Amino acid sequence: MSATLFRARLLSFTRAPEHIDDSGSYRYESDGALLVDDGKILAMGDYATVSTSVPEDTVVIDRRPHLILPGLIDTHVHFPQMQVIASYAANLLEWLNTYTFPEECRFVEQAHADRIAKAFFDEFFRNGTTTAVAYCSVHKASADAFFAESLRRGSLMIGGKVMMDRNAPQGLLDTPETGYDETRQVIADWHGKGRNHVAITPRFAITSTPEQMERVQALAQEFPDLHIQTHLSENHDEIRYTCELYPDAVDYTDIYAHYGLLGRKSLFGHAIHLSDREADAMSEAGAVAVHCPTSNLFLGSGLFPLRKYQRRDKKLRIAVATDIGGGSSYSMFKTLDEAYKIQQLLGERLNPLESFHMMTLGNAEALSLSDRIGTLEPGTDADFVVLNAAATPAMALRMETIRSLAEELFLLQTLGDDRSVVETYVAGRSMKPTA
Ligand code: GUN
Ligand code: ZN
Repeated sequence: MSATLFRARLLSFTRAPEHIDDSGSYRYESDGALLVDDGKILAMGDYATVSTSVPEDTVVIDRRPHLILPGLIDTHVHFPQMQVIASYAANLLEWLNTYTFPEECRFVEQAHADRIAKAFFDEFFRNGTTTAVAYCSVHKASADAFFAESLRRGSLMIGGKVMMDRNAPQGLLDTPETGYDETRQVIADWHGKGRNHVAITPRFAITSTPEQMERVQALAQEFPDLHIQTHLSENHDEIRYTCELYPDAVDYTDIYAHYGLLGRKSLFGHAIHLSDREADAMSEAGAVAVHCPTSNLFLGSGLFPLRKYQRRDKKLRIAVATDIGGGSSYSMFKTLDEAYKIQQLLGERLNPLESFHMMTLGNAEALSLSDRIGTLEPGTDADFVVLNAAATPAMALRMETIRSLAEELFLLQTLGDDRSVVETYVAGRSMKPTA
């Protein structure tokens, strides 16, 4: 296969921006070239320079005036909840019991899981998201469907069979032993196959007995390189109930710490209402708090104190995510738009450079995967998106008055959605579905 040279404007972050004019936090090429071959980025730079030293048979794809960014990364989603989005519930626990658990029961059927897996990848690529960290259902069939589809599409995905052995319908329960055995089987079948990564996935402390948590701990010890994902401190009723179920723990975070689940590969969905002690424990372990803005607003869970967590002496590592289907949009633009509004309500600012850093390099760093994704650096995987900030009449009109890159990014975040994603490339292959 010959190399491909993409000509467009290019943007790739190199570190977290400190303010809205922080041009030292990214590389921007106004007439850029991205050289791609065999699923990898070979070169990134200005067109005049890069184009002089490419192989003779290189194909040139001209995407000017569009903007190429690394593929977007979503660090917390529920693959079996595509048909749960827009369910009318008063709060998290009602939403789980009334809509979400019954829906997830359907994933015992391989055919259903296979069908939703196809729709899932279509929808994520349509929105420019090339890596997602997904909860499958409790059924191994759901993890098989998810990873098989990822392998077919060549994507870097992280996923896990959910472990849950209480406080849910019978059709959604495993046991400490079957949860352990099936997770081991999912790891054997899928971890490292293609670009797939398996995550150890206890749903949350409410749905796992102490006996199951002990088996989760055993998995974490046997597979210390794997990601661990769960939920933490999302809703006040959830926190109260959790602490009743684990009366010996000093707080919610301490439950996970007790079972050895706090570490640099641990992703804690929501983490909105942490005490100082909990935030210290998270920070000392290097664990990641995953902010899910559209979900937190949709379920009325609370306002994520982003700046408070970033300003403490013991800072938290933070990622950002859609949390489909508690979340209400597949778009990382919409997700960061809501994150911006949450900070407005807290009297804080979230500038667009930070937002676009978070959905690319920031999330890659939170996943300890920035040597592969979240950047356009040569040597990394060729996952990238082609964006058009003038994709709709309203955006085109506003674009007429845009004067800077930061303003353009803010427009993309505020009015953009899947229509602004012209193309999505996964390992160098065009993947955006047309319908
Ligand atoms: N806590 C436990 N399970 C879930 C879930 O599926 N969605 C959300 N938002 N919170 C949870
Ligand atoms: Zn979740």
